[in-house]
Amino acid sequence: MAKGSSTLYSCQHCGASQSKWSGQCQGCQSWNTLIEEAAPTTLPKGADLKTGRLISLTTLDAPHVPPPRYITGLQEFDRVCGGGLVPGSVVLVGGDPGIGKSTLLLQIAATLSKKVPCVYISGEEAIDQIRLRAKRLGVDQSSVALASATNLNDILMTLEKSSEIKPKLAVIDSIQTMYVEQLDSSPGSVSQVRASAQELIRLAKRRGITIILVGHVTKEGALAGPRVLEHMVDSVLYFEGERGHHFRILRGVKNRFGATDEIGVFEMTQTGLQEVLNPSALFLSERIESASGSVIFSGIEGTRPILVEIQALVAPSAYGTPRRSVIGWDSNRLSMVIAVLETRCGVVFGARDIFLSVAGGMRIHEPAADLAVAAALLSSLTDCPAPRDTVYFGEVGLSGEVRAVTQTELRLKEAGKLGFKHAVMPKMSSKQSGKSLESSLSVDEVTFLKDISESFQQKPQQEGHYG
Ligand code: TYD
Ligand code: MG
Repeated sequence: MAKGSSTLYSCQHCGASQSKWSGQCQGCQSWNTLIEEAAPTTLPKGADLKTGRLISLTTLDAPHVPPPRYITGLQEFDRVCGGGLVPGSVVLVGGDPGIGKSTLLLQIAATLSKKVPCVYISGEEAIDQIRLRAKRLGVDQSSVALASATNLNDILMTLEKSSEIKPKLAVIDSIQTMYVEQLDSSPGSVSQVRASAQELIRLAKRRGITIILVGHVTKEGALAGPRVLEHMVDSVLYFEGERGHHFRILRGVKNRFGATDEIGVFEMTQTGLQEVLNPSALFLSERIESASGSVIFSGIEGTRPILVEIQALVAPSAYGTPRRSVIGWDSNRLSMVIAVLETRCGVVFGARDIFLSVAGGMRIHEPAADLAVAAALLSSLTDCPAPRDTVYFGEVGLSGEVRAVTQTELRLKEAGKLGFKHAVMPKMSSKQSGKSLESSLSVDEVTFLKDISESFQQKPQQEGHYG
């Protein structure tokens, strides 16, 4: 290759670049992710940067004016955004293929188009396909302006200069299909994704247009293309759900205009996504109350309490190495809870397979689920159903202690609302117990995990069964 060659190899996973091709990226250690791209132009030798003008500096202190918001009317979506879309902000919506991103965004554009002009640009589907979907969703009469395009130069021109519409919201579905004419690399490559996003963000700030970008997710669960995309935009939302389940969860992971970790719950139906305003009732609706291994966890997602059923199955293993399989929770945390139960509470799982699942396709990230998981494991191991009107929550430490968690009151209130009578939970800190708990539940405070392991007693006939 000629000296001073203008090609670089960029990692499609982390965005790092290196001058030589290799099988493994030196930045993130992933394999086969380096792709040849034109090197960015650098400053010419001797360039003088001292030609800038002075910037006027200001103080932090100023009267606070909350940003105006576009309320879409889909409450679950508005909450995740922190109370509606902020004009001029850029939101990235990521998710697996087929999870319902296009459906959600078409619904949002359609409802918001009653208030402000909205544009929906698809690089993935033809106009007819989108119309067909709109019909199915019952929004074909709304005034969303539609286009099927992938050339970003054309899109920028249209959004900025079109005489037909002055859009306030533009949905770009998806950023991986867009390309800038001036760049050689193919759509979806790091430099195209980055350049397209950059130009759209500039347009958003310049014209006060809210832009929602759709982004694909890789097998590993990261947004495809460079991670820099997440840094560039104002908010990042993930749309997730288990395949085969009809619940979908919209989760805020970054928000420059509101709280993160807020979730919105939707149900995918024949006529599009329906909001689920009372998710706890839905997640518990298929519960079999007298089954062993099923425990109700009172969790918090963002500002909202949500009750979910945690199911465990401890089964004899057919193989030498027992299986540990988890759906909807962290497998490392499961290993930890098992280890604590074995070492601190004298429970023997031995060579049995352990399966753990959060019913309904929900994903839990809170450590407060430890106690509920431990109870579900004990219940399945002993074949002794957990008390049916009881919720569990609390974090388990490595010494076998049960640690306090936040938002106790909110968790109890939600459980009370759904008819639960008891709660097994950590001892409240002196600060918390100073306040009188306004709760209709009787509370069973536990300090050590051992305390709950004693409440699950193995039935005598079960002993011989496992040897
Ligand atoms: P889609 O929005 O195309 O997913 P994404 O843009 O994330 O790839 O969703 C497609 C799936 O949703 C598809 O499998 C069919 C299903 N679906 C419904 O169940 N009901 C509906 O009303 C619509 C429009 C789609
Ligand atoms: Mg799509």
